[in-house]
Amino acid sequence: MLSTRITRLKESATLKMMERAKALEARGIKVISLDVGEPDFPTPKEVVDAAYKAMLSGYTHYTPSKGIPELRRAISDKLKRDNGVDVPADQILVTPGAKQALFYLYMALLNDGDEVIIATPAWPSYWEMATVAGGIVKEAPPADGYGLNVEAIERLVGERTKMIIINSPNNPSGAVFSKESLEELVELAVRRKIILVSDEIYEKIIYDAVHVSPASMPGAEDVVVIVNGFSKTFAMTGWRLGYLAGPKQIIDAATKLQQHSATCAPAFAQKAAADLLPQADKLAKPMIEEFRRRRDFIVSRLRSMGFKLDPPSGAFYVFPQLPDSEPDSTSFVERALDAGVSMTDGKPFGGFSRNVRISYANSMENLKEATDRLATILGK
Ligand SMILES: Cc1ncc(COP(=O)(O)O)c(C=O)c1O
Repeated sequence: MLSTRITRLKESATLKMMERAKALEARGIKVISLDVGEPDFPTPKEVVDAAYKAMLSGYTHYTPSKGIPELRRAISDKLKRDNGVDVPADQILVTPGAKQALFYLYMALLNDGDEVIIATPAWPSYWEMATVAGGIVKEAPPADGYGLNVEAIERLVGERTKMIIINSPNNPSGAVFSKESLEELVELAVRRKIILVSDEIYEKIIYDAVHVSPASMPGAEDVVVIVNGFSKTFAMTGWRLGYLAGPKQIIDAATKLQQHSATCAPAFAQKAAADLLPQADKLAKPMIEEFRRRRDFIVSRLRSMGFKLDPPSGAFYVFPQLPDSEPDSTSFVERALDAGVSMTDGKPFGGFSRNVRISYANSMENLKEATDRLATILGK
């Protein structure tokens, strides 16, 4: 009954863990969820107020498919101001979330059998979207410290390579790619005429590093597409708001897909984002300071138990290697869940069978309790 396309698709590993955790909780077992990919902070009141005002003033209907002009202008200004990237407003498509934006890209770019190079470790949805779109994934391993390994990427480039996808700050490792490595990658993409998709959704959640967009580099205007959104910076995961910015031909193709599927992103969310985008740094600051405190705690606590990791520079995840005594990520994740700590296996992020992803988007109190529980199962 179902299409081959859909039967090839795997369930989301992170969402699956969340569901299992909820099932345990329904049986009265307190589970601390360290598997979540969303800030545990409320959306800033300023954004909620702006959305309320927007709804009262009529932002409750369809908008132009590409997005309201004031938001596309605000994004264009932001790209110039924060990233040194010149993209006119008509080369920006506002979408219901960055995930949807990525989906359009895959559908717009890939023919059956075209190849996508994913710089691993990476977010599992990159694989599944390629599968739906008929693409074939090639996985590039990371450099030391989960950096960008441009040599490994270049070795995978072939006749059918259509796109390369990178994500910095990175989910799951928290690594922030260096400017030099990004310059090399853009040079490769320009030389080999490959579309470079840069997922910059964690751009503002950054600690001891500087975010550089590959779209700001020479030649990038023809090959780099930026994917970004409001879910993480503004703790707006439920509002569904993201965007694409890049070459006109690609943005116009993605717009056609949106016209015939979602139509547009929610009107009031677009208006609130347009009003508040210039204040993103100020609004996100308290959340980032708290994430930094938690990152420092979790890194030192995990290290004390024998996990191997360096403090990551961005996002709100750690991707430690298991202590030597632990043979495999899947069995460790299962044991942790039995002890009431839910985390994500490293395997769906590119076959990292000695790693787990732990999200520290949870209260300090819960992080302390969760790490105590892990210490107990490890006998530490
Ligand atoms: C790397 C990465 N890209 C994109 C997304 C999707 O974000 P959105 O909520 O805007 O769809 C996520 C969400 O977890 C993510 O981790």
